[in-house]
Amino acid sequence: MSDRRSAQWYGGDDRNSYIHRAWMRRGLPADAFDGERAHIAIANTASDLTPCNAHLNEVARSVADGIHRAGGIALNLPVVSLGETQVKPTAMLWRNMAAMAIEEMLRANPIDGVVLLGGCDKTIPALLMAAASVDLPAVVVPGGPMLTGTFRGVPLGCGTDVWKLSEEVRAGTLSAAEFQRSESSMIRSRGHCNTMGTASTMGLLAEVLGMTLPGIAGTPAPDSRLLEAAHATGVLAVDLVDQERRPSAVMTRASFHNAIVALAALGGSTNAVVHLLAIAGRLGVELTQDDFDRIGAGVPLLVDLQPAGRFLMDDLYRAGGLHAVLAEVQDLLDPSAITVIGEPLVSALGTAQVYDREVIRARQDPLQMEAGIAVLYGNLAPDGALVKPAAATPALLQHRGPAVVFDSVEDLHARLDDPELPVTADSVLVLRGCGPKGYPGMPEVSNMPLPAKLLAEGVRDMVRICDGRMSGTAYGTVVLHVAPEAAAGGPLAKVRTGDMIVLDLENRRLDVDVPAEEWAAREPSAEAAKAYAAPTRGWEKLYVDTVNQANTGADLDFLLGSSGDQVARESH
Ligand code: FES
Ligand code: MG
Repeated sequence: MSDRRSAQWYGGDDRNSYIHRAWMRRGLPADAFDGERAHIAIANTASDLTPCNAHLNEVARSVADGIHRAGGIALNLPVVSLGETQVKPTAMLWRNMAAMAIEEMLRANPIDGVVLLGGCDKTIPALLMAAASVDLPAVVVPGGPMLTGTFRGVPLGCGTDVWKLSEEVRAGTLSAAEFQRSESSMIRSRGHCNTMGTASTMGLLAEVLGMTLPGIAGTPAPDSRLLEAAHATGVLAVDLVDQERRPSAVMTRASFHNAIVALAALGGSTNAVVHLLAIAGRLGVELTQDDFDRIGAGVPLLVDLQPAGRFLMDDLYRAGGLHAVLAEVQDLLDPSAITVIGEPLVSALGTAQVYDREVIRARQDPLQMEAGIAVLYGNLAPDGALVKPAAATPALLQHRGPAVVFDSVEDLHARLDDPELPVTADSVLVLRGCGPKGYPGMPEVSNMPLPAKLLAEGVRDMVRICDGRMSGTAYGTVVLHVAPEAAAGGPLAKVRTGDMIVLDLENRRLDVDVPAEEWAAREPSAEAAKAYAAPTRGWEKLYVDTVNQANTGADLDFLLGSSGDQVARESH
């Protein structure tokens, strides 16, 4: 009997192998089951309700062509998909569910390897978490960003410009009718958001982690070269099975080091921190939030993309793409990290070239000298909080100001624009109850809108602090992922309006300036606790009962680690 995994189902001539084969015949020839052919699942997150991934069925056909060409059997496996803009209360609540469901289906089925098709924010993280915990040979095809739409002759960054335009409406500088008109220009084509948001970041980092065919991440979704890459990935998948090259051999500590360097140079999304921590947690790779600050802090920001900068993903691809960026920081990369083709990641960088120095800056001429994500600690964040200096107002990164506290998103919306709200440009907006357990699911609400009266005065940024996340397409001086969250007993629950808050980026501190004795004696807000999630059944209950805090990746505690690809028992 063949030693392929699928042969455990199809090999032999007993009743069980008969059943496994017979139900799969449906057009497959008998030699599909001869043990010579690799059975490759295409874990496909295409869904009409995940518009960013809706084109993946076409991509899957090209992958399947490649698998067949290499002598394998291609099997389309629709998996749980998450449309970032559509699912409530937040797609992050379902990331771990998707990862768990995908993991179990990869393990339970007669497959030897898997091609992972994702795009929209949570889909690539969920696929990589699942693949890491099954550890079957796996490779990613990132679905790619959409083309750039324009409105009034100006490029629109999706996500980012929704925030900007809606603030303009609130400030009275854009009419509601014009705002509506921009809606049909926002999404120009198939593909995911075209800013350096979470989808773009995780697609690119999937390649930096070594999990794609080198040179394909960032290929725009409508570009023919994406289908060419998908075909080549299908061919590679069969080879991966023959080589028995598994995610655990590719995604090593060295790969995560490189991902952190790339995240900084690209100016990628803060969400990548929780996703990379979660993937590492599945692999048993030692990675902490502090590694992001330690490894990423000295890395220069080279890519001038929205939300912090000017250009969009299509421009990055045109300018030379990911490899051109990585080549600029090659000396900071760990050369021992390999990719799915078995070669070092850095060996692909020799031919990289930059075609537009406005989009990809030279190492000696960066947009910022130090671009990484900073991790803050203090009496407001004993387990850490993040801030992305590249998306912040530099002057606000050393700041002392009185807190204006909101107990929930609903409380924020109800009171933010109240003319009586005791708020000035120096105030620090605090929003709690938005962590993994509290909301639940840690939504992207940390980049709170600014009070209308301050917008009218021309204020465009303020210090904001929250235990939630921030959209990768958002910007501002936002301290987020505060851990522990208020609903898990974190000190954010004790802050009161008027307390002085001190943000000190230089010393990586986030503190409330209340006398120690008074602070120790203070009770968490009972009002805030009323808004915390208290589910009694279903996924939400499982999630709230078992989710870890943001500083370790917000995975469910029992999903850490790997169970491998073995299934113990027969089904009949
Ligand atoms: Fe799907 Fe932005 S909504 S990537
Ligand atoms: Mg997002």
